[in-house]
Amino acid sequence: MKKQIAKNPIEFEMEAGNLYAFCTCGHSAKHPLCDGSHKEQAPECKSHKVVAEEDKSVWVCQCGASDNSPFCDGRHKQL
Ligand code: FES
Repeated sequence: MKKQIAKNPIEFEMEAGNLYAFCTCGHSAKHPLCDGSHKEQAPECKSHKVVAEEDKSVWVCQCGASDNSPFCDGRHKQL
């Protein structure tokens, strides 16, 4: 089962060419990155893998309500 980390997103810096596996279940101790916890805590979830095409800052959802998971889509403002 998904778990809410916080009610606001967290900023994360991505570096061009790196592969990131973002947590989508909320159970990772390395949030916003996946540590494999979903396998036991939320088997319906999978990490969301992204290769950064450029150096950039992203906002990662921590509320669990975003339709653009793992990234924030502003939905937390309605919670
Ligand atoms: S933190 Fe979840 S939608 Fe923004």
